[in-house]
Amino acid sequence: MRCWKTVVGLAIACLVSLAVPTAQALGPSGDAAGDEVAGLVERGRQTYLTHCGACHGVEGKGDGSVADYLTVKPPDLAGISARAEGDFPFDEIYDVVDGREVAGHGTRAMPVWGAAFKGLDPDADKRAIKEKVVEVVYYLKSIQPALPMTHPKMGGKQE
Ligand code: HEC
Repeated sequence: MRCWKTVVGLAIACLVSLAVPTAQALGPSGDAAGDEVAGLVERGRQTYLTHCGACHGVEGKGDGSVADYLTVKPPDLAGISARAEGDFPFDEIYDVVDGREVAGHGTRAMPVWGAAFKGLDPDADKRAIKEKVVEVVYYLKSIQPALPMTHPKMGGKQE
């Protein structure tokens, strides 16, 4: 009887050790769409740390080094999805960050990044500016605890 228990125990241990690498192989890191998104997110992270962290904080919590000096407090950018009930309104966030479409509506405490990126790089064409904004929005999407990276909308397997 003892012997059987050992055999069953070994078989289970063996199955468990096999299951771990299999689960990793099926994860989002291996597929091309996932890798492309990871590249966008990383470039967006660099832009974020250079241009956004001072106000919104390194982790997007709205606690950047200059936040205390602002009249309008920067919102918690890691809480976008939680506020949108688990969704991530990509186009809306894109428009807020770019700002050139919405800038006409009264004063705005948030810089108009579409114009700022153009100012920093006057040679950049429309597509390059759009890409820079898209990258940073992807980065924001990646820091939503309510929306994991394995979500189909994040470049994981589509249904
Ligand atoms: C000068 C400080 C400052 C900087 C720098 C800044 N923001 Fe903001 N941001 C704000 C403030 C203040 C708000 C609140 C909205 C308002 O009244 O304009 C805001 C709002 C936002 C919102 C809307 C969030 C929501 O839930 O509605 C997003 C998205 C955002 N910022 C992204 C960014 C990104 C991306 C960058 C860098 C490219 C950036 N911000 C840089 C101050 C800043």
